[in-house]
Amino acid sequence: MTQAVWTEVWTEVDQYFTDHLVEADPVLDAALAASDAAGLPAIAVAPNQGKLLHLLARLKGARRILEIGTLGGYSTIWLARALPEDGQLISLEFNPRHAEVARTNIASAGLADRVEVRVGPALDTLPTLEGPFDLFFIDADKVNNAVYVQWALRLSTVGSLIIVDNVVRGGCVVDDTSEDPAVLGTRELFELLAAEPRLSATAIQTVGGKSYDGFALALVTAGP
Ligand code: SAH
Ligand code: DHB
Ligand code: MG
Repeated sequence: MTQAVWTEVWTEVDQYFTDHLVEADPVLDAALAASDAAGLPAIAVAPNQGKLLHLLARLKGARRILEIGTLGGYSTIWLARALPEDGQLISLEFNPRHAEVARTNIASAGLADRVEVRVGPALDTLPTLEGPFDLFFIDADKVNNAVYVQWALRLSTVGSLIIVDNVVRGGCVVDDTSEDPAVLGTRELFELLAAEPRLSATAIQTVGGKSYDGFALALVTAGP
């Protein structure tokens, strides 16, 4: 089959999984519609990926979550719904317009009491945070992925989970001649994951409506 046909199959299977396993959700649909109406790019995680984040946060029993890269708050809502009532999610977002759309979506989801969106380049806001966080979802500028994982480690405790989105990007990750800063950043991330003794990590390729990509998952196994 050609690539174009596979993309159709992946999209159809994603839809089939979502129809069966992801409950109808007017709040999340409205968050996507509002993001779209505000002109935000359609790059939120897919519904079945959002539910994976939600299930991982529940498995972890996460009480504090740090997200880097809010966009319109779609993944934020999936993650925050896994928190207990006194839990907290902080999401870092560079673009004030994205943050504004996200705050409205988060309030509509009834999660304003436990979610805070902080505006600014993550490299500026990360040093103002106090850990530990139980779960990290890193989904912002790919060039800084290795630095973000180092920050996550600093703000973690033994047993914290670090998830990094978009580590495959159509297979570009294996192109060792690439000069694309995002690819270089992702390859730096894998060097770090390989070398860091406090992390036990894996990575998974994904296909679907969002094409061919993947995520990395790392468990913090030892303290600083
Ligand atoms: N997690 C979202 C998608 C995030 S898209 C979801 O799945 O629903 C990536 C976001 O990261 C964009 O909103 C972009 O503005 C933001 N971003 C890019 N560079 C950043 C930086 N240096 N610091 C913080 N956020 C950044
Ligand atoms: C892009 C960013 C993402 O976080 C994603 O999941 C897909 C695409 C992008 O910048 O193109
Ligand atoms: Mg992403």
